[in-house]
Amino acid sequence: MAQPDPGHIMQVGLGFFASKTLLSAVELKLFAALNRGPMTAAELAGALELAPRAVPDFPDALVALGLLERDGEGPAARYANTPETALFLDPASPAYVGGILEMANDRLWGFWGDLTEALKTGRPQNETKHSNEGMFEKLYADPDRLEQFLRAMEGVSAGNFRLFAQAFDFSRYASLVDIGGASGQLACCVAEAQPHMACRSFDLPKVTEIARRRIAERGQDGKVEALAGDFFADPFPRADVITMGMILHDWNLEKKRALIAKAYEALPEGGAFVVIEALIDDARRSNASGLLMSLNMLIEFGEAFDYSGADFAGWCREAGFRRTEVIPLAGPSSAAVAYK
Ligand SMILES: C[S@@+](CC[C@H](N)C(=O)[O-])C[C@H]1O[C@@H](n2cnc3c(N)ncnc32)[C@H](O)[C@@H]1O
Repeated sequence: MAQPDPGHIMQVGLGFFASKTLLSAVELKLFAALNRGPMTAAELAGALELAPRAVPDFPDALVALGLLERDGEGPAARYANTPETALFLDPASPAYVGGILEMANDRLWGFWGDLTEALKTGRPQNETKHSNEGMFEKLYADPDRLEQFLRAMEGVSAGNFRLFAQAFDFSRYASLVDIGGASGQLACCVAEAQPHMACRSFDLPKVTEIARRRIAERGQDGKVEALAGDFFADPFPRADVITMGMILHDWNLEKKRALIAKAYEALPEGGAFVVIEALIDDARRSNASGLLMSLNMLIEFGEAFDYSGADFAGWCREAGFRRTEVIPLAGPSSAAVAYK
């Protein structure tokens, strides 16, 4: 019989070494520097203003993690991006997804240091820890943090929204409103892939100002509309398809149910309510990303939590929806759909 091996325990336990190495590389704009051309370790240290001790360990660790390529050995070896880091981790690339990693480095890294306290108290451990303000009020009071949060959401959601815009059958529908649409990314993706759809993005007024700018930058000005409102205080705009990307997981069960009921009200017969999240597998055993995201919701909000497709189906049936399905998207994420 094989001897038990502690390797997996150590890999998970010290997983933050790898995580922080990548987060610092993003912070230092290493991938952008290498998109200007391959560099030796010494050139990289010069370009990023690193101490001599940082090289070659830092770039070699990234090579071992599959995040850089290296041509050659020793001081003359030249480091280059992988095709993925060149595309996704250079802020100048339209496919940049590093916003979520910038926010992880700047905010979540420190807050996760207090996970044990969150587990003991059930209380958030972010900027709201020592105040009674809500997470969005606190975060959005600082324009830089607001921009950073919206860039983070763009990074984490880009792949899912592109896939959803292709994978969902829009042929029976003419209009979509994305509730909590942040910078308007989902509405733009659907408008680009499904030109017959009239798409609107609904979010808090401070966010809509930025969404209008981002929609114009994507060339969707005049096609995609950004609407300002509060999804708890205001009725939802009516539409054939109502989407929510990573919205329900921000709230407790009572508020989740209230948002589902409002979506039901705003849809016609046959209309579709779609949530896009890192849905937890129904048995709550295998989607570690979804389960860890739910712990991240504890850190950010306290009582908010992620959920499974079966949870979603149950809540939607109670709200009156007739049928539900789950469409797998990028990596650990899915779209769960409820039809009225
Ligand atoms: C986790 S982000 C999701 C962003 C985007 N849907 C995505 O999946 O990438 C939550 C969004 O909900 C918005 N939001 C929070 N409270 C809101 C409210 N009361 N009314 C409207 N939008 C709200 C936030 O501004 C933010 O854009």
